[in-house]
Amino acid sequence: MDKFIIEGGNRLGGEVEIKGAKNSILPILAATLLTEDEFVIENVPLLRDIFTMKKVLETLGASVSFDQNVISVDTRGTVGYEAPYELVKQMRASYYVLGPLLGRLGRARVSLPGGCAIGPRPVDLHIKGLRELGANISVVHGYIEGFADKLEGSYIFLEGTNGPSVGATINTMMAASRASGNTIIEGAAMEPEVMDVANFLNRCGAKIRGHGTRRIEIKGVKELSGCRYRVIPDRIEAGTFAVAAAITKGEVFLQNAEGSHLEAVLKKLEEIGVSISRERNGIKVKMDKEINSTDIETGPYPGFPTDMQAQFTSLLSLSNGVSLVRDKVFEGRFMHVPELVRMGANLRRKSDYVIVKGVPFLSGAKVMASDLRASAALVLAGLAASGTTEIRRIYHIDRGYENIEKRLQSLGAQIWRRGE
Ligand code: UD1
Repeated sequence: MDKFIIEGGNRLGGEVEIKGAKNSILPILAATLLTEDEFVIENVPLLRDIFTMKKVLETLGASVSFDQNVISVDTRGTVGYEAPYELVKQMRASYYVLGPLLGRLGRARVSLPGGCAIGPRPVDLHIKGLRELGANISVVHGYIEGFADKLEGSYIFLEGTNGPSVGATINTMMAASRASGNTIIEGAAMEPEVMDVANFLNRCGAKIRGHGTRRIEIKGVKELSGCRYRVIPDRIEAGTFAVAAAITKGEVFLQNAEGSHLEAVLKKLEEIGVSISRERNGIKVKMDKEINSTDIETGPYPGFPTDMQAQFTSLLSLSNGVSLVRDKVFEGRFMHVPELVRMGANLRRKSDYVIVKGVPFLSGAKVMASDLRASAALVLAGLAASGTTEIRRIYHIDRGYENIEKRLQSLGAQIWRRGE
């Protein structure tokens, strides 16, 4: 298992290219199973999660090949209907094949993902959406099994007690695109990745309207066809590099970053004292002041993304006051907190929030990564800390950031990957 060694204290400067959005590509790859054809997806980052989805598709009978950042998928011929536990446990998003397999074959068997470091992750809304389209869904021997002679369009209210679900909205939308008749998803998630998947499906011949709002209308079609599609830039990667610039008092240009997908994050950075300039082909981030404290509460898009909560907790650890960071989407997503405390942060966790009392400096320590964004938070803290930080279990970070150490090095960071 690899680890990162970081010598903190360098200001970051220069330009970094933001890669394609992991959370768009995963469902888009699954959506290729909806029909028998060839697809070319551009702007695909080389990430562990994408390679896991490639394996899932191959296990189901599709052929998948990479050429740099372009992925080709051929779903002609027979496909299977089972996504096994061995793959799903590596990546929860494997459940995205459920909707497409039901849409194409009327049959799917997908392992339940099980526990997750960021807290309970139920799948009841995925099941609800697909049942409302007429699928017969049961949970047997740790698997979700679905059958449908025919999927029928329906009116579906999909919002859960924690708000709308990105995954359930996308799974239901994919299946509904091949149902007979019209579907309305009320209480839909509005995240840019939901929009991206809908745009991809429409490019393939689907008839989806209203994506990007709380109400999505889908007119089912008999056939979809292959297409070529370029995914949007990853807003969470852009946000993470923006925090890297801020926490090291640096100046970084985020090439290709899409400001309109990141408004809540950029506004918070401005409150903290960071200067942000939105330019035609990216965003410039510059920090030369002390870090102001501020409160953060995560919420569904366009709210502050839960996927940026851990990184902001690192940043606010070095602020000039007291901040309250609340995660209302994943209430248990605080595995980074005890690790940041080991680096000298003054954090007190209570139920779904953390009280962050700013300290003047962090000091390097040996810490353990627990999940993707918590790992990013530890890297950011290490970049700003004095001395050496050693981060173990960094395979988590490879799930969501391509070559992060190389890209940080090119901005002037001292970070190295070492075998343990
Ligand atoms: C996606 C993202 C993840 C991000 C999250 C919230 C992918 C691959 N992952 O995860 O990075 O942190 O959106 O923006 O795109 N819920 C239910 N029942 C369900 C499904 C979800 O109660 O059936 C709850 C969840 O526990 C959570 C909330 O709904 O509290 C939102 O979760 P959801 O949007 O579904 O997250 P994911 O799609 O799993």
